[in-house]
Parts: sequence; structure tokens; C-alpha cells
Amino acid sequence: MPIQTAVLASGNKGKLKELSPLLASVGFELTPQSHFEISAIPETGASFVENALLKARHASRLTSLPAFADDSGLVVPSLNGAPGIYSARYAGASATSEKNNIKLLEALRNSNSRRAYFFCTLVFLLHAEDPTPIMASGEWHGDIAEGAKGANGFGYDPLFVAQGFQITAAQMEPELKNQVSHRAIASRSLIRSILDRRGQV
Ligand code: IMP
Repeated sequence: MPIQTAVLASGNKGKLKELSPLLASVGFELTPQSHFEISAIPETGASFVENALLKARHASRLTSLPAFADDSGLVVPSLNGAPGIYSARYAGASATSEKNNIKLLEALRNSNSRRAYFFCTLVFLLHAEDPTPIMASGEWHGDIAEGAKGANGFGYDPLFVAQGFQITAAQMEPELKNQVSHRAIASRSLIRSILDRRGQV
């Protein structure tokens, strides 16, 4: 299989590490956008899909390379979908995960539902004007616990108890989380769609 270089529209080293082997299996060698000194663009979309597309088009336009991007966050239906696309900055522009988690616990104090899901969208563009981006999403459903537990993972993991588990995502071994999470589901789906497209054209 010929190897093709693609840009990853993210500065997150964890994502590069997680996505690189998966995308290598379908012939892509990922280079992070920081390598090209591309700065992040404002995420002005109203949804994860729109923001992932904005990021991928921006990176592809500036590098003239195929691009991958992802956007993810936590959705709490009883809070009208918050923190949603604002997950990283729920408690303010430079909020820590701890502050975001405290704000979420406070927001749910009198709520009659603690249901929540993580959502991840992945996008692949062949070029900046690609009219048929390949997109895949994954959802990971569960509940928000009454307090934080666990030291693994990041973000809202210490509060999230996935369906079928008695522990938070931050108490899971990283290998387990990487098999069952919203990002894992979206990645597998994206790979299937890339292979399907290749089989057709
Ligand atoms: P991004 O995809 O890096 O923009 O992630 C946005 C935010 O969503 C993160 O900063 C976290 O707060 C939250 N988030 C996304 N995925 C996860 C996850 O797997 N665990 C915990 N928090 C997550």
C-alpha cells in the first residue's frame, strides 16, 4: 500500500499517538499541524461536526495535504447538551479540568437526570475543497457520578461512569478506555468508511 502523508489538525500529542497506528493501517502517515507552524483556528461552529470540518479544511488549505481532524466533548441532555462543544472551556477560557468538573457537579446538583454521553467526530478531507469529506462519529453513554474518582484519562473522565461499568473512566486502564470510548468507536467507523470509499473509486 502506498504511504501518503496527511496533516492532523490538532496539537494534542495524545490524539496523534492514538490515531497514528490506526491510520497507518490504511496507508496514512500523520504529521501534526504544529510541524507546519499552523495555529489553531477559532472553533465557531455550532456542533462537533462543524468544528471538526473547520479544523480539517484550515489545516488542509495551509499545507496542501489531505487532513484529519477530530472534535469531541461531553453532552448532558438534562443541561440542554452542555457542556457540549464548550467542554474544554466550560468554566472559562483557560479553565482546568478540575474547575470544569466542579462546575458540572454544581450544575447537576438539583437535576433529576445525570445521564451523559461523550461524543467524538472525526473528519477526513482529501484536499481543502473536498466536497465529500468522510466523517464518522462515536457516542459513549453513561452517568455523571456524585464526585470525582480515579487518576487516569483526562477532562471529565473522573466523573463519567459508562454503562456496564461500576468505575469511572478515570479508574479504567487506558487500554480498556481506548477500546470502548467514543473516540475508539469513531476511529473504527472512519477506517471502515475510508476502506469502503477506496473500494468504490
Ligand atoms: P477536544 O476534542 O480535545 O477539543 O476535547 C474537548 C474537551 O472535551 C476536552 O478538553 C475534555 O474536556 C472533553 N473530552 C473529550 N473527550 C474526552 C474524554 O475521552 N474524556 C474526558 N473528557 C473528554
